[in-house]
Amino acid sequence: MNVVIIYAHPYDGSFCKGLLETIVPTLEARGANIKVKDLVKMNFDPVMRPEDLRAAKTKVYTEAVKAEQDDILWADAIITIAPVWFGMIPGFLKGYFDKVFITGFAYDQGLGLLSGKRVFSLFTFGANDPYIELVNQYRTLEYLWDNIFGMVGFDDIATKYFTRVPTSSDELRQQYLVEASAFVNQIFDRKLGEIGQLGHARLLTHLTAKGHLNEKFN
Ligand SMILES: Cc1cc2nc3c(=O)[nH]c(=O)nc-3n(C[C@H](O)[C@H](O)[C@H](O)COP(=O)(O)O)c2cc1C
Repeated sequence: MNVVIIYAHPYDGSFCKGLLETIVPTLEARGANIKVKDLVKMNFDPVMRPEDLRAAKTKVYTEAVKAEQDDILWADAIITIAPVWFGMIPGFLKGYFDKVFITGFAYDQGLGLLSGKRVFSLFTFGANDPYIELVNQYRTLEYLWDNIFGMVGFDDIATKYFTRVPTSSDELRQQYLVEASAFVNQIFDRKLGEIGQLGHARLLTHLTAKGHLNEKFN
């Protein structure tokens, strides 16, 4: 099993780092081949430059983007680890997907080109329920993940949320780490497509492929 972990946190003392350090040995114990992308440490440039956007037509990618795309193709599963900032993933993580999952590589004419893959995402929040629910932060993330991973044809989208992280007790954090291991173990214990959580984007790519939509969309 090939797993790419996309790690989007700048600070080594973060709880996200604890999640990373917990799930790597969990995956290793199951025999996974792992590549960790620490976006800040690898200095990944998240800004869409003219040459990056031009690649949507030319399919000529920068070296940095091409290296990421090769690893995405290599992966059976992608894991993301990120904090929630202003109800959203950090901008530099969005920039990664904008550039790496560009039109022509990840989807074309509304059709996802990355089928047979799955994403398992761990998100940390500072807030707690019911606030998070009431301000639609779960929903925002779910819509976004559907519009990215459903659009490019992934077969599973699995999300795990860790709330009130900065004010949590050591006991709760330990419990969260146990839950994080159990969450990523599903990569091995649940079959492709079994988790689902796919919304409109995935459905619409299927309908387009079957010719049920009149207008193609990009
Ligand atoms: C710029 C910024 C915006 C934030 N916005 C939110 C938010 O919208 N919702 C929330 O629950 N927490 C928010 N937080 C708190 C972080 O999500 C929280 O501190 C983090 O998830 C804790 O995990 P960490 O130790 O891995 O950073 C925000 C933090 C920052 C720095």
